Amino acid sequence: MEAKLKPADTTSVWRKKPMYLYEQDIQKSELKRVLGKWSLTAIGIGAIIGGGIFVLTGTAAHYHAGPALALSFVVAGIGCIFAALCYAEFAAMLPVEGSAYAYAYGTMGELFAWVIGWGLILEYAMGAMTVAVSWSGYFNKLLHLFGIDIPFWLRNDPVSAAKYAVDNGLADPGFSVNLPAFLIVWVVTAVLVRGIKEAAGANNVIVIMKVAAVLFVIIVGAFYVQSANWIPFIPAPEIIPGETGAPHEAYGWGGIISGASAIFFAYIGFDAVSTQAGEAINPRKDIPFAIVTSLLVCTILYIAVSLVLTGMINYKDIVGDALKAPVAAAFDSAGQPWAVFIITAAATAGLISVMLVMMLGQTRIFLGMAKDGLLPNFFRSIHPTLKTPFKSTILVGLVVSLVAAFTPISILGDMCSFGTLFAFAMVCLAVWLLRRSDPGRERSFRAPFLNVIAPLGILTNFYLIINLSELAQLLAFGWLILGLGVYFLYGRPNSNLNKL
Ligand code: ALA
Repeated sequence: MEAKLKPADTTSVWRKKPMYLYEQDIQKSELKRVLGKWSLTAIGIGAIIGGGIFVLTGTAAHYHAGPALALSFVVAGIGCIFAALCYAEFAAMLPVEGSAYAYAYGTMGELFAWVIGWGLILEYAMGAMTVAVSWSGYFNKLLHLFGIDIPFWLRNDPVSAAKYAVDNGLADPGFSVNLPAFLIVWVVTAVLVRGIKEAAGANNVIVIMKVAAVLFVIIVGAFYVQSANWIPFIPAPEIIPGETGAPHEAYGWGGIISGASAIFFAYIGFDAVSTQAGEAINPRKDIPFAIVTSLLVCTILYIAVSLVLTGMINYKDIVGDALKAPVAAAFDSAGQPWAVFIITAAATAGLISVMLVMMLGQTRIFLGMAKDGLLPNFFRSIHPTLKTPFKSTILVGLVVSLVAAFTPISILGDMCSFGTLFAFAMVCLAVWLLRRSDPGRERSFRAPFLNVIAPLGILTNFYLIINLSELAQLLAFGWLILGLGVYFLYGRPNSNLNKL
């Protein structure tokens, strides 16, 4: 057994959670261990493939990389693989549900861990909110394809509804709500409360459907590729009006890198697998496998989709509405408008599993933080028969559904990327530190060439952070400052480490 904390350590914000406490947490876990390696892999794919690949590819090709969009996916994929390998090593060593937060607690100290846990709310809860709003958009589009239109004040938050009314010369509706976004969050919440087996079962079905849809895009789309659209593959750098209208330098190698930042959101999700450690049958082996496999599968699919897309439609022609739905527009330009139905249906179904995994991840991170005393016991209350953290799941559902229903949250997707990239960089640092400070600890998975991939992971992820929009950086920074206040008011005085 390790030595207990020295008195001086017990009050410091840098105090670290001793490793023997992690072992105790693992033995005492009350969650149901039902997830095998393929269900875990499906959880990764379920979170990764969402709206990103169907939407961001257009902006990234037109404004940043041109046909070299595929290389942007390679660059972002490499940045993610560094983080994924580090996550995998940690999950193999400390299979606990708190993910990056928990890894940081044992290596970088309580304050760092708290800031990371707080930052992960941006990734998971805010991610779920933005995805709920995009889901509503796809769902309305799907209904529209069947000739059904929900009144605009029932499918938009008040700010977006007022704008819609002005743009379309309609009267201000007075009250408005994004009802589909609100309702879908409650459907997902109900599945999550019922049980992890039910949630994983629903996720497996959706994952099969969306992988099939992506394969459909690749295989059918390949028949409509005109190789002239790929030439030149890396267009010469050029100053063009950017998304906001302000001139910026696009294409060339610089464009490939800024394209990688632009599509990074599409990769978010593989790390959610690490929050399932408490529910995995064999977490030390299966979680590393699932993290790496889900990321590799999606990277290959994404590269193929981007090649097909830029081959079907010239990146210069992705303008107007095509920027919002580039894959559908590519099929439209190939004279195959029916594909729009398949893509819309796939995205509608696919986004449900992204929400499912994001909300699942959020509640498991809260569970880890509450077990350490940094959050109230409410967040660790497990249902006696369902074995799920039902109270916290319902609270997360309530907050996510209300924000999605009443605020124009979709513009804040970059904040979700910020929280994720920040956690990625910190996990790379933490795994590197622990290899040095505790080299003898058993590691059933070791990240290869850690001395190279950890620093590269940190650099790549920070580089992608500084490429995010300034507004998102500022808001995320404000969020972290707010988190510090909560830490000093609640977390620090209630930490279990005070009792050692
Ligand atoms: N990667 C997820 C998406 O693209 C979040 O929707």
